[in-house]
Amino acid sequence: MSALQTISNHSLRNCIRLFGVSSSNLYKSLGQRSFSQKQEGIPAASDNLGWFKKLLPIRSIDPGKESHSVLLAEKEIVYELQFHQVKPEFMVEYLKEFENFVSITTEKKTGAELVGSWTVEIGDQDEAVHLWKYPGGYEVLNEATEVYRTDPQLEKFRLNRNKMLRSRKNQILLAFSFWGEPKQRPAEKNIYELRSYVLKPGTMIEWGNNWARGLRARKMYNEAVAGLFTHIGDLYTIHHMWAYDNLHERKRVREAAWRRPGWDDCVAYTGPITVADYMKEVLTNPNYGYYMHRDVFGKGGDFITSPEISQMFGELIAVWCVHEWMNAGKPKKLQVVELGPGRATLADDMLRTFRKFSELNDIVSLNLIEVSPKMKQLQHAKLCQTGILDDKIPNLNTSMTRYNIPVTWHNDIQLLPEEFTFFIAHEFFDALPIHVFLKNEELWREVLVDVDESGENLRFVQSRQSTISSKLYKLNEYSNGRNIFEFSPETGLNVEAISKRLKRYGGFGMIIDYGHFGTKEDTFRAFKKHKLHHPLKDPGEVDLTADVDFHYMKKVAEKDVKVFGPVNQGDFLHQMGISIRLQMLLENANEKDKENLMSGYKMLTEKDQMGERFQFLSLLSPKHCNENYEPAGFSTKKS
Ligand SMILES: C[S@@+](CC[C@H](N)C(=O)[O-])C[C@H]1O[C@@H](n2cnc3c(N)ncnc32)[C@H](O)[C@@H]1O
Repeated sequence: MSALQTISNHSLRNCIRLFGVSSSNLYKSLGQRSFSQKQEGIPAASDNLGWFKKLLPIRSIDPGKESHSVLLAEKEIVYELQFHQVKPEFMVEYLKEFENFVSITTEKKTGAELVGSWTVEIGDQDEAVHLWKYPGGYEVLNEATEVYRTDPQLEKFRLNRNKMLRSRKNQILLAFSFWGEPKQRPAEKNIYELRSYVLKPGTMIEWGNNWARGLRARKMYNEAVAGLFTHIGDLYTIHHMWAYDNLHERKRVREAAWRRPGWDDCVAYTGPITVADYMKEVLTNPNYGYYMHRDVFGKGGDFITSPEISQMFGELIAVWCVHEWMNAGKPKKLQVVELGPGRATLADDMLRTFRKFSELNDIVSLNLIEVSPKMKQLQHAKLCQTGILDDKIPNLNTSMTRYNIPVTWHNDIQLLPEEFTFFIAHEFFDALPIHVFLKNEELWREVLVDVDESGENLRFVQSRQSTISSKLYKLNEYSNGRNIFEFSPETGLNVEAISKRLKRYGGFGMIIDYGHFGTKEDTFRAFKKHKLHHPLKDPGEVDLTADVDFHYMKKVAEKDVKVFGPVNQGDFLHQMGISIRLQMLLENANEKDKENLMSGYKMLTEKDQMGERFQFLSLLSPKHCNENYEPAGFSTKKS
């Protein structure tokens, strides 16, 4: 008896439900959105979608001449897959009864042939799976069903068997011709893996073409048992069955297959990607990422930031830093760390200001956390005003700034020297990837990015089931009652890393960004040339951003440090004396500069400009503040 016919305890069923993606557009499902106007109608993608689509699971693959031939199933044979959930206490009896049932159907010449039976070891346990074959197609299936329903002996069996089941389900399937007919295996000790996929309507042919190629690559491993697709029952469902000697062999074969050229293409076809993966690729892909090879700031770029608007911004941050350093007892070293420094305008204004405080001479160092080689070059040019940064050493580059303060570039917070630190992040966290989740009847589903049927445009879709991310993260804890929740795990990791360092080595931090306190739901958007843009159009060419969730940051940080704010930018800058600084600068300015200073001041502080939209959150090591301490600029007392 072959292994496929044996009801074997060595069976394995691992039903991977890759994203069953509904074809509905996210925006339809979300109803009215705060920035719905800009989202209407996704325009045809331009050429620069090309590189991005390579990263996406669903490609526009030429259907080619082989489309129908590879897909064409042998319709003369239909298959039935039965899933029986057995009450655990009846499993042994059920299996014995099932063997009797097979003998009876064979005796009665129903035309049905059992291809194989399995019990499940990994997955939905207490389940038995049977694969029946009906040579002769639907006609034979009809006849067999008729006998099954009317024969008294079989009816008795059925009644008895049903008492042993919790539930049952079946599907009528056809076999992909390129997989061939499911064959019985000679070895007794195989383990079997059943991988199931739910496809989007209309993608079966592409799926078939990809797998036809992929399977050729795996022929040598002799593990493919069956490739079936539903014809009646849950539609668009695919089952692939693989056989291996054992779990170790399974691992070896699968790893070998991944190394074969072309196999990744085939597997990558299986589902869309998360918004977080999309954002990460679009912003920081080493070859094509938005930030990686261009200067994106200012009039010629896509957006402008506060430090670029006025020198007063960086100067007042530096004054705040000095104030907190004094409050901390003037430690002998002050390491300043900026995350995402852009053109380094803020850092430059801060270093210039530090020079006014003689007590800081020789104790300050600057450390920049930057992912982009182009930005690193711009930062080096601004701060050091000589040569070009040598980017040969991947994680560490040090130079001397024009202020005689050393600057070092790092790729990761964890690589920073362990000492007293001032962390500053301005418009850094809004660039970090977010996942987007939708809560529906208490179940969190994830918004994903996919290619539409034409293969030309990207679109949002919802996962049908929960995804790994929706299970992994504490969504109910952090969502603060929202039903649409943008969640940035990278934000959590960075805030946690900063807080832990502050707690251990001392120091303080300032996070400045546009955001909300756990209230906003839908803020993912794009900018191009200072205008809103569709976030899925022109990937790599536009800035992607999402509002920062200060409520979440605060929750993470509070485990290690004291947190103050968020307070409005306007309030903070006024408390820090921006009006006085403005007067000083105006005194020595010409008419043109006066005009610029005034307009910068207004942009930074006025409520309807950046004064209210931008928020300041500060983190202080508990070492440096007693119960009643309030850092400068965060006073809650009315003046
Ligand atoms: C919006 S810009 C802000 C620049 C600057 N802070 C300012 O306000 O002018 C974001 C900066 O963060 C950098 N960046 C983006 N993602 C990053 C990441 N994952 N790690 C490090 N730097 C990143 C970008 O290259 C850029 O320098």
